[in-house]
Amino acid sequence: MIRLTFHVLTLFPEMIQQACEHSILKRAISADIIQISCINIRDFATNKHRQVDDEPYGGGAGMVMQVAPIYDAFTSVTASLSSLSTEKHFVYLSPQGATFTQQKAAELSAKQDIILLCGHYEGVDQRVLDLLSPEEISIGDYVLTGGELAALVLIDAVARLVPGVVGKNESTANETFSNNLSGMLEYPQYTRPQEFRGLQVPPILLSGHHKNIEIWRKQQSETITAQKRPDLLI
Ligand code: ADE
Repeated sequence: MIRLTFHVLTLFPEMIQQACEHSILKRAISADIIQISCINIRDFATNKHRQVDDEPYGGGAGMVMQVAPIYDAFTSVTASLSSLSTEKHFVYLSPQGATFTQQKAAELSAKQDIILLCGHYEGVDQRVLDLLSPEEISIGDYVLTGGELAALVLIDAVARLVPGVVGKNESTANETFSNNLSGMLEYPQYTRPQEFRGLQVPPILLSGHHKNIEIWRKQQSETITAQKRPDLLI
């Protein structure tokens, strides 16, 4: 059963598709848990050169994505959605948006259909936002050349919270920023070999004493959080 479909409105569908052909996302798509559907905005251009951008009114540098192709691409998606899909959500990836967080990822992971708009050039015609009222989301305070990489970050972070995408062995429950409730960074992890270039695995982890290991890990989490991200402890 497909739990969540990402409908990506983009000028570069291959960028999205190719990035989702690996590892956990690929497995989740093959298992029909999530679905990625790319809609090429250029397919909704009406002029013979298939142009989807134009110069800004009032002048200035760069090009602006036109309202009509985006509006029509969006409508083609919503028209195709079953009226049963009540849990749909429209997101515009933009540096002007609120910063993406683990909490937002968790919220979006409960949706059934997420429509993601990837902008390019100097942005989209303001009427896209006025007419369709997307939630604007930024992945951080820096400017990318387009929304595709931001959409992929969002897809990855949201998809792994959809039940069944990450296996029990790779549990998401214990990790940094997640619902570990403590909001602390993770403790250090080690695997074989026991010694590498003179560096030993902490003996406590070899002790088999689960209670002491748990205490040690909690102390490590506190120390590391205080050192690296003291803002999380406030
Ligand atoms: N598009 C360009 N820069 C972006 C950012 N930082 N976050 C989301 N979308 C963007």
